Formats: sequence, C-alpha cells, structure tokens
Amino acid sequence: MIVCVCHRISHREIERHALACDNFDELQLNTGVATGCGRCGDCARSVFDEVRQISVCPGAARGAGLQHAVALA
Ligand code: FES
Repeated sequence: MIVCVCHRISHREIERHALACDNFDELQLNTGVATGCGRCGDCARSVFDEVRQISVCPGAARGAGLQHAVALA
C-alpha cells in the first residue's frame, strides 16, 4: 500500500527504512516521506513507531497481533 503519494513510498518501504533509521527525521531524509504535502505524516509516523517498538521488544508483536510484525520475521 502506498503511504506517501507525493514520493511513492509504500508501507513496506517505511517498515524497511524504520529498522535502519535512528529516528523519524532520518526516515524523512532517506525517503522524502511527509516532506511534500504532509498528508501522509501521521500514517508514516504510525508505521515507523510500530516497527521501532517491535524491534526493541520482539515479543510485543506476538501478543498484540501487530500487522507489521511480518517485516521483522
Ligand atoms: S503524501 Fe506524503 S508528502 Fe504528500
């Protein structure tokens, strides 16, 4: 699913970059997400935060049924 229409950044791309970036600002620098019209900002940040939370605490993915857990498998 495309999250950022302005830069054609998908949900999967955000997940992949979230694992390599230290913070959301770095994700924006690397992908351009939420730097155009800004409408994708909340969704992009949500995906980023969810992936970062799972990567810090992998067990959280099992109990919460988080859809982004697949990206970390
Ligand atoms: S949709 Fe992402 S900046 Fe416009």
